[in-house]
Amino acid sequence: MRFRTVLTKIGATFALIALGLSSPLVAEAEVGGVEQSYHGQLGFGSGSGMLEKWCALPNFSFEQQSEIDGWTSQSCNGCHIGAAWNPTKSSSNCLYCHNSDSPKHWDVPQVADCMTCHSKDETKRGDAFTAEQDVHIAAGFLCQECHERKADEFSDHQFRKGTSIDTTEPTMEGTLSCTKFCHDPKPHSAKKGIAVKLNRHTEKVACETCHTGLRPAAALARRQWNVFVSGKPVTTMRAAGWLPEHKWYDNTGPGASGNYDLPILGYTERRDAEGAKIYPFNSVSVDWYIKTPTSKFDEVIPVPAVKAADFNGDGIVTLEEMQVTYPEATLVTEEMNFNISHSVVPVALAFGCKDCHGRNGWVLDWQQLGYEGDARRLKATGKGNGKGGK
Ligand code: HEC
Ligand code: HEC
Ligand code: HEC
Ligand code: HEC
Ligand code: HEC
Ligand code: HEC
Repeated sequence: MRFRTVLTKIGATFALIALGLSSPLVAEAEVGGVEQSYHGQLGFGSGSGMLEKWCALPNFSFEQQSEIDGWTSQSCNGCHIGAAWNPTKSSSNCLYCHNSDSPKHWDVPQVADCMTCHSKDETKRGDAFTAEQDVHIAAGFLCQECHERKADEFSDHQFRKGTSIDTTEPTMEGTLSCTKFCHDPKPHSAKKGIAVKLNRHTEKVACETCHTGLRPAAALARRQWNVFVSGKPVTTMRAAGWLPEHKWYDNTGPGASGNYDLPILGYTERRDAEGAKIYPFNSVSVDWYIKTPTSKFDEVIPVPAVKAADFNGDGIVTLEEMQVTYPEATLVTEEMNFNISHSVVPVALAFGCKDCHGRNGWVLDWQQLGYEGDARRLKATGKGNGKGGK
């Protein structure tokens, strides 16, 4: 541990030397390191980064709640480490991931290092990064073996991400998926008869839909920013073993619905989009107050003002109470969809034919997905490809 202090002190200088040496591209293009990556909250002040963004889960308004001061007073900077602006963490960024024992070299970040902050992902998506629950972790993968470190125009510390439907920037747009580097799009060969049938599915059914199975960890189900217990919004969880929601998604990120870049997605709204497939999601229902019926989703009534409107002190802020201070206050309820891409379960637990098709099929809601009924039965009875009802 005592090396940590040493590293902290030399961190900034070492960064320049190390990054300069490790990548000629850095010098040429003058791209930054972590401070310019999405981990460093690229875009502070420009509006193109995440720092100034609003997300329904923390419901913190950067603009209205004292910007950096408000942000750091809520300890958001403990994980959103940022750079120069961060009063506590700016010089020790490196140690979050490079938990080195020796100041002479940077050790390779381990899963546990990434998870000190990404534990939030487990709560959003029910992931469990354990050997029992995740075949890739069991095979010894580190996070960055899929989320490979790449340089882009901003930073040499970007880690490939795909186009998961969340509110983060598409900094490394479309660069990660099961089939990008590793798996064949028609990957099944183990049992011949079944393999052919499974491979036919991969055009309309995402790998994750069958292979992430029932979710191994508890996850958020609902958060109410109008009902408080001990000052915290009432939050409901799904118990481990929950079945995801299934929706059509075309991997182009959020923004098509609603009036703000939130992961709001209808079941069939992207069905006809190019490359759309059925994907698994955790749909988290969130309630929050906005200022007027026509306000954007991020024109929120800040949480302290909502709490202050609880005049009878029962923890429930009714619309009536809220409208005393904000006459046009409006309660919004929307579902935030967090896509599921981790904790690929052992093959024996992947969903098979009977889990989706037939009398006892229970994984998909065919009508919700825009089919007249079970796609296999429709095919068998000559009703075409099951596409209909739109
Ligand atoms: C968000 C996690 C994270 C942070 C924070 C971070 N790094 Fe890294 N860094 C990585 C990962 C992951 C790799 C790739 C490791 C690999 O490929 O095995 C890497 C690679 C490197 C490499 C290249 C090592 C090599 O052998 O090629 C250097 C140098 C480096 N980081 C320096 C730094 C410095 C200096 C800081 C602080 C200013 C820093 N890193 C902060 C995650 C991080
Ligand atoms: C200090 C906390 C912290 C550590 C450690 C950390 N991350 Fe992150 N990571 C974040 C935060 C916060 C975000 C998202 C917000 C942002 O843009 O700053 C993020 C975003 C990401 C994203 C983009 C995800 C998206 O939805 O856009 C990927 C991929 C990622 N991290 C991978 C890693 C990997 C791999 C490691 C370990 C090498 C790691 N992170 C370590 C805090 C951390
Ligand atoms: C087997 C490959 C693989 C491994 C290992 C892996 N990921 Fe991912 N990760 C993915 C894929 C694929 C996506 C979805 C990309 C997309 O479509 O945006 C993803 C998405 C993400 C996202 C975006 C939001 C989400 O959760 O869907 C974050 C953040 C992330 N991964 C962090 C991590 C961290 C931290 C680790 C290690 C604990 C890790 N990943 C390990 C493949 C992997
Ligand atoms: C325990 C670590 C942790 C803390 C503390 C934390 N976050 Fe995050 N936050 C993350 C991670 C990791 C992600 C991105 C990965 C994902 O998609 O889940 C994220 C994502 C976000 C996003 C969406 C990213 C974007 O680009 O729009 C916002 C907004 C956000 N956080 C705001 C906050 C606010 C506000 C606070 C303080 C009230 C906070 N966070 C505290 C870890 C944390
Ligand atoms: C319709 C459900 C479904 C879809 C979609 C699906 N799989 Fe599978 N997959 C399975 C089942 C079930 C098995 C186990 C087959 C068996 O019993 O041998 C399997 C087996 C596998 C295996 C083990 C080796 C083998 O040849 O059987 C791999 C690897 C695999 N799938 C990868 C993928 C990838 C990558 C995708 C996306 C391109 C994908 N799967 C899409 C259901 C699916
Ligand atoms: C995750 C749920 C899921 C699983 C598991 C699954 N299917 Fe399907 N199946 C679907 C969906 C969705 C469609 C419709 C795809 C489309 O719209 O083209 C479909 C279509 C079909 C069709 C009609 C179209 C065609 O390809 O001929 C048949 C037959 C079929 N499945 C058989 C099977 C068999 C056999 C298995 C096991 C090897 C299986 N399915 C496993 C979801 C599933």
